[in-house]
Amino acid sequence: MSVSKLAQFGIKHVAKGIGRLSTEVLESGKGSYVTTVEGRKMLDFTSGIGVTNLGHCHPAVTKAAQEQVGKLVHGQVNIAFQKPYLELIEFLVPLMPHKSLDTFFFWNSGSEAVEAAVKLARHATKKQNIIVMQGSYHGRTFGTMAMTKSKTVYGENYAPLMPGRETAPSDTAAIVIEPVLGEGGYVPPPAGYLAKVREICDKNNILLIADEVQCGFGRTGKMFAIEHWGVRPDILVMAKGIANGFPLSGIVSRKELMDLQKPGSMGGTYAGNAVSCAAGVAVAKAFQDEKILENVNERGAELLGMLETAWKDSKTGHMIFDVRGLGLMLALECQPGKGYASKIQAKCMEKDMLILTTSIYDTLRFIPPLNITKEDMAEGCRIIREAIDEVAAGEHPPETKTKGQALE
Ligand SMILES: Cc1ncc(COP(=O)(O)O)c(C=O)c1O
Repeated sequence: MSVSKLAQFGIKHVAKGIGRLSTEVLESGKGSYVTTVEGRKMLDFTSGIGVTNLGHCHPAVTKAAQEQVGKLVHGQVNIAFQKPYLELIEFLVPLMPHKSLDTFFFWNSGSEAVEAAVKLARHATKKQNIIVMQGSYHGRTFGTMAMTKSKTVYGENYAPLMPGRETAPSDTAAIVIEPVLGEGGYVPPPAGYLAKVREICDKNNILLIADEVQCGFGRTGKMFAIEHWGVRPDILVMAKGIANGFPLSGIVSRKELMDLQKPGSMGGTYAGNAVSCAAGVAVAKAFQDEKILENVNERGAELLGMLETAWKDSKTGHMIFDVRGLGLMLALECQPGKGYASKIQAKCMEKDMLILTTSIYDTLRFIPPLNITKEDMAEGCRIIREAIDEVAAGEHPPETKTKGQALE
């Protein structure tokens, strides 16, 4: 099929319910850039929604996966242990935000891992209900749709979902929280908030589940976001960046909780796939070898500085409601009602940058690779600032322009 027909083919044959930012057809990716089949090179500030956190095709991750493909692709978890799975645990144990988190279960997607956490919480507490936060996003499966409150679109016309609308402590198995709210708008919690949630959990025999699918694995400048507040979760959920694009997710909890589950009640055909685990080992090594967290904090400060400057600038500040976030999980929320975020996003796309909005509010989110170079960040900041300036300029057309004439 000719290159020019590929997008049309996709529009015709790929499920519309997916929805997508662009109809570009990607062919390759390297570092912070992707290249389309038509040779358009785009700076990727989405990282595939916070997944390719070490950039596209990180050489060590690619090499580890290639080598594993030649050794063992599928070592099904209910059949036997496999080496990369155990090696990955060896690398992850010292990275956990609390030493009690020592027993792992791997799955494929974030949603599945959230459901694994809910299964564990119900089983361990013998209680049913789960409390989630307003604005939460936990996935698109039946269980996680019921736990998702960031937008109505995720649950619209799919009911009945998992039941349980009001809940007393004696019926509540777990409180699930994203330590930094993701899809709901990149909102860090107020000081003391998570400690208070921990206290409520302890008092009422409720488990605290930290969903770090989006904010975990270095994204906020610490290995796990919950470390910013020194709070211990009972169950930690991780996915996305842990294998830099290979499907892998997991939960970790204390052995005494995990061992309550009956053998055979957990598992899944592809759960903890050997190639994904080998990629995960390479990711964990890269965090050690390449000072990733330092880079997150340095590049994050540069991006945040640029956004704050735009906020303070009298020419652009009137469009901005808030600038927030931690590390390289940053957001710019625009004043409501004018669609500024989508306009800025469209300008960035014209300037060859992939960038996402988020939440029901008019918000842009910035999730570049955690190892983005200083030069690529400078280029990203230049594009975003230009886009903000141009949208602001379009707001106040020069008097010489006549009606109907393009404003930009
Ligand atoms: C916090 C959070 N939890 C769960 C999920 C679901 O993960 P997945 O899309 O891999 O199922 C996401 C996805 O964006 C997420 O951000």
